Amino acid sequence: MTEEITAQALNTDHFITEKVEEISEAVGDGVAINALSGGIDSSVVTMLGHRALGDRLKTVFVENGLMRGGEAERVTHLFKELGVRVEVIDARSEFFEALKGIKDPEEKREAITQSFYKNVFGRIVKESGAKYLLQGTILTDIDETVAAIKRQHNVFQQLGIDPQKTFGYQILEPLVQLRKDGVRKTGKALGLPVELFNRIPFPGPALAARVIGEITPERIETVRRATVVVERLLKDTGAFQYMAILHEDRVTGMRDGKRDFGLQIEVRCWESIDARTATPTRLSFEILERIAAEIIDEVPGVVSVTYNITSKPPSTIEAV
Ligand code: XMP
Repeated sequence: MTEEITAQALNTDHFITEKVEEISEAVGDGVAINALSGGIDSSVVTMLGHRALGDRLKTVFVENGLMRGGEAERVTHLFKELGVRVEVIDARSEFFEALKGIKDPEEKREAITQSFYKNVFGRIVKESGAKYLLQGTILTDIDETVAAIKRQHNVFQQLGIDPQKTFGYQILEPLVQLRKDGVRKTGKALGLPVELFNRIPFPGPALAARVIGEITPERIETVRRATVVVERLLKDTGAFQYMAILHEDRVTGMRDGKRDFGLQIEVRCWESIDARTATPTRLSFEILERIAAEIIDEVPGVVSVTYNITSKPPSTIEAV
């Protein structure tokens, strides 16, 4: 059992010193690697690893084709300012190939895990000679995987998977005792810019967690464009997380006076402290109508926009 450190009980100075020491000790004079997605968890791990190892930490941004628009540039720029070099690895075709034809949510998650950890990382780790991968697994990821709710992309030991045997490297997880609020507090103490440590959570499987049914570059582009609208219009709500989801079913609509059997986007906006439970934000009808109008305007093929009013549980935050 991993012992939880609540955000309240967390002494960030003490935590940071301890984790930096643990990473230094484990890696010794070797090299470690970590994947930065620009989310809060991987950002905090990058800073801890950088403090512990300096240039012996190789940080990569895996461009898997499933990220939000402009992320690679944004993340590399932000971290350059913090003195951390980030290498962008183009793995788009590998991920789309692995996801081809898969509709089942857990199979999708598994395909992403395998592409990420076995194919892409297996290769990078081999090339770099690294023996360790640093990653930002947090306690909520483990809880949900162990409870068989969702196979979180980054959980292995707790499922009886030995990363050394399966992927050829060991994994260090300095954040496993924390939940999202504790990670934010640590990010702030590490000097991350507010736009990083206060950013809404974004899942490891990225926009693939928001496409119901098959993942194709076109369907990801649809949800990516809808995400831009939702994030722009909801950024001042103070909500925990908000997102656009592309449904698999089509519905009859009309455009330019003609029948259009089009796409459906579902909008979700959540109030939550640590993602374990969540309730939908009571958005005004005005803002909901604006979201609908702008999505219809800016995302080709969409004829219906809905808002989720179910709590977690029984809903979950992401749709896949
Ligand atoms: P769910 O959908 O399980 O999400 O209610 C709870 C929180 O976790 C995020 N999430 C993930 N984060 N890897 C991650 O790093 C994953 O596989 C994953 N799935 C969901 C989700 O965005 C929410 O904040």
